[in-house]
Amino acid sequence: MPQIPETVHELTVGQLSARSGAAVSALHFYESKGLISSRRTTGNQRRYSRDTLRRVAFVRAAQRVGIPLATIRDALAELPEERTPTREDWAGLSQKWRAELDERIRQLNRLRDHLTDCIGCGCLSLENCVLSNPDDVFGERLTGSRLLAEGR
Ligand code: FES
Repeated sequence: MPQIPETVHELTVGQLSARSGAAVSALHFYESKGLISSRRTTGNQRRYSRDTLRRVAFVRAAQRVGIPLATIRDALAELPEERTPTREDWAGLSQKWRAELDERIRQLNRLRDHLTDCIGCGCLSLENCVLSNPDDVFGERLTGSRLLAEGR
Protein backbone atom coordinates (compact mmCIF):
# COMPACT_ATOMS: atom_id res chain seq x y z
CA MET A 1 0.00 0.00 0.00
CA PRO A 2 1.35 3.54 -0.83
CA GLN A 3 1.61 4.69 2.78
CA ILE A 4 2.52 8.37 2.98
CA PRO A 5 4.56 9.38 6.07
CA GLU A 6 2.94 12.12 8.16
CA THR A 7 5.91 14.35 7.52
CA VAL A 8 4.78 14.70 3.90
CA HIS A 9 2.43 17.67 3.57
CA GLU A 10 2.32 18.03 -0.20
CA LEU A 11 1.73 15.27 -2.71
CA THR A 12 2.65 14.79 -6.33
CA VAL A 13 -0.16 13.71 -8.64
CA GLY A 14 1.40 10.23 -8.65
CA GLN A 15 1.33 10.00 -4.85
CA LEU A 16 -2.24 11.33 -4.74
CA SER A 17 -3.28 8.80 -7.35
CA ALA A 18 -1.52 5.86 -5.67
CA ARG A 19 -2.91 6.59 -2.21
CA SER A 20 -6.44 7.63 -3.27
CA GLY A 21 -6.93 4.93 -5.88
CA ALA A 22 -8.07 7.54 -8.41
CA ALA A 23 -6.37 7.50 -11.81
CA VAL A 24 -4.16 10.49 -12.65
CA SER A 25 -6.55 11.29 -15.50
CA ALA A 26 -9.45 11.32 -13.02
CA LEU A 27 -7.53 13.70 -10.72
CA HIS A 28 -6.87 16.03 -13.63
CA PHE A 29 -10.57 15.83 -14.48
CA TYR A 30 -11.57 16.62 -10.88
CA GLU A 31 -9.20 19.59 -10.94
CA SER A 32 -10.60 20.81 -14.27
CA LYS A 33 -14.09 20.67 -12.70
CA GLY A 34 -12.99 22.63 -9.62
CA LEU A 35 -13.39 19.72 -7.21
CA ILE A 36 -9.76 19.79 -6.11
CA SER A 37 -6.93 22.27 -6.60
CA SER A 38 -3.15 22.26 -6.67
CA ARG A 39 -0.25 24.67 -6.82
CA ARG A 40 2.45 24.60 -9.49
CA THR A 41 6.15 24.26 -8.80
CA THR A 42 8.72 26.35 -10.63
CA GLY A 43 8.98 23.32 -12.91
CA ASN A 44 5.23 23.59 -13.52
CA GLN A 45 4.46 20.37 -11.67
CA ARG A 46 1.31 20.00 -9.61
CA ARG A 47 1.52 19.74 -5.87
CA TYR A 48 -1.54 18.89 -3.80
CA SER A 49 -2.01 19.63 -0.13
CA ARG A 50 -2.35 16.42 1.84
CA ASP A 51 -6.04 17.11 2.74
CA THR A 52 -6.82 16.68 -0.96
CA LEU A 53 -6.84 12.96 -0.19
CA ARG A 54 -10.01 13.47 1.88
CA ARG A 55 -11.63 15.54 -0.86
CA VAL A 56 -10.88 12.86 -3.45
CA ALA A 57 -12.25 10.16 -1.15
CA PHE A 58 -15.40 12.25 -0.67
CA VAL A 59 -15.82 12.83 -4.41
CA ARG A 60 -15.42 9.13 -5.23
CA ALA A 61 -17.81 7.98 -2.49
CA ALA A 62 -20.44 10.52 -3.54
CA GLN A 63 -20.08 9.60 -7.20
CA ARG A 64 -20.48 5.93 -6.32
CA VAL A 65 -23.99 6.62 -4.94
CA GLY A 66 -24.92 8.62 -8.01
CA ILE A 67 -24.54 12.17 -6.74
CA PRO A 68 -23.88 14.52 -9.65
CA LEU A 69 -20.45 16.17 -9.88
CA ALA A 70 -22.02 19.62 -9.82
CA THR A 71 -23.70 18.83 -6.48
CA ILE A 72 -20.42 17.47 -5.12
CA ARG A 73 -18.58 20.58 -6.30
CA ASP A 74 -21.12 22.89 -4.67
CA ALA A 75 -20.71 21.01 -1.41
CA LEU A 76 -16.90 21.11 -1.53
CA ALA A 77 -17.07 24.82 -2.33
CA GLU A 78 -18.45 25.30 1.18
CA LEU A 79 -15.13 24.11 2.61
CA PRO A 80 -12.34 26.65 3.20
CA GLU A 81 -9.74 26.76 0.42
CA GLU A 82 -7.11 28.67 2.36
CA ARG A 83 -6.75 26.09 5.14
CA THR A 84 -7.28 22.42 5.86
CA PRO A 85 -10.97 21.84 6.59
CA THR A 86 -11.66 20.88 10.19
CA ARG A 87 -14.03 18.27 11.56
CA GLU A 88 -16.53 21.07 12.10
CA ASP A 89 -16.25 22.12 8.45
CA TRP A 90 -17.02 18.58 7.33
CA ALA A 91 -19.85 18.34 9.87
CA GLY A 92 -21.40 21.44 8.31
CA LEU A 93 -21.20 19.86 4.87
CA SER A 94 -22.61 16.59 6.19
CA GLN A 95 -25.55 18.44 7.78
CA LYS A 96 -26.37 20.11 4.48
CA TRP A 97 -26.16 16.81 2.69
CA ARG A 98 -28.23 14.83 5.12
CA ALA A 99 -31.50 15.35 3.19
CA GLU A 100 -29.86 14.50 -0.15
CA LEU A 101 -28.31 11.34 1.26
CA ASP A 102 -31.48 10.30 3.10
CA GLU A 103 -33.42 10.58 -0.18
CA ARG A 104 -30.83 8.43 -1.96
CA ILE A 105 -31.05 5.86 0.79
CA ARG A 106 -34.83 5.80 0.40
CA GLN A 107 -34.48 5.35 -3.39
CA LEU A 108 -31.95 2.54 -2.95
CA ASN A 109 -34.14 0.80 -0.36
CA ARG A 110 -37.17 1.11 -2.62
CA LEU A 111 -35.22 -0.35 -5.53
CA ARG A 112 -33.94 -3.20 -3.34
CA ASP A 113 -37.34 -3.93 -1.84
CA HIS A 114 -39.50 -3.70 -4.97
CA LEU A 115 -37.47 -5.67 -7.49
CA THR A 116 -39.58 -8.80 -6.98
CA ASP A 117 -42.89 -6.91 -6.94
CA CYS A 118 -44.93 -5.37 -9.70
CA ILE A 119 -43.60 -1.84 -10.10
CA GLY A 120 -46.44 -0.63 -12.29
CA CYS A 121 -44.24 -0.02 -15.29
CA GLY A 122 -46.74 -1.41 -17.82
CA CYS A 123 -44.78 -4.53 -18.77
CA LEU A 124 -47.33 -6.88 -17.19
CA SER A 125 -44.55 -9.51 -17.20
CA LEU A 126 -44.76 -10.71 -13.60
CA GLU A 127 -47.43 -13.01 -12.18
CA ASN A 128 -48.59 -10.39 -9.69
CA CYS A 129 -48.87 -7.64 -12.33
CA VAL A 130 -52.39 -8.83 -13.12
CA LEU A 131 -53.28 -8.22 -9.47
CA SER A 132 -51.28 -5.06 -8.83
CA ASN A 133 -51.65 -3.45 -12.26
CA PRO A 134 -54.57 -5.03 -14.07
CA ASP A 135 -54.84 -3.81 -17.65
CA ASP A 136 -52.01 -1.41 -16.79
CA VAL A 137 -54.24 0.89 -14.74
CA PHE A 138 -51.07 2.63 -13.49
CA GLY A 139 -50.63 3.93 -17.04
CA GLU A 140 -53.64 6.14 -16.48
CA ARG A 141 -51.97 8.12 -13.72
CA LEU A 142 -48.21 7.88 -14.06
CA THR A 143 -45.36 7.71 -16.54
CA GLY A 144 -42.60 5.25 -15.78
CA SER A 145 -42.83 3.02 -12.74
CA ARG A 146 -43.82 3.32 -9.11
CA LEU A 147 -40.14 3.09 -8.25
CA LEU A 148 -39.72 6.68 -9.40
CA ALA A 149 -43.24 8.10 -9.12
CA GLU A 150 -43.35 7.88 -5.32
CA GLY A 151 -39.97 9.57 -5.06
CA ARG A 152 -40.90 12.63 -7.12
S1 FES B 1 -43.73 -5.07 -13.19
FE1 FES B 1 -44.23 -4.01 -14.95
S2 FES B 1 -46.35 -3.83 -14.86
FE2 FES B 1 -45.85 -5.03 -13.20
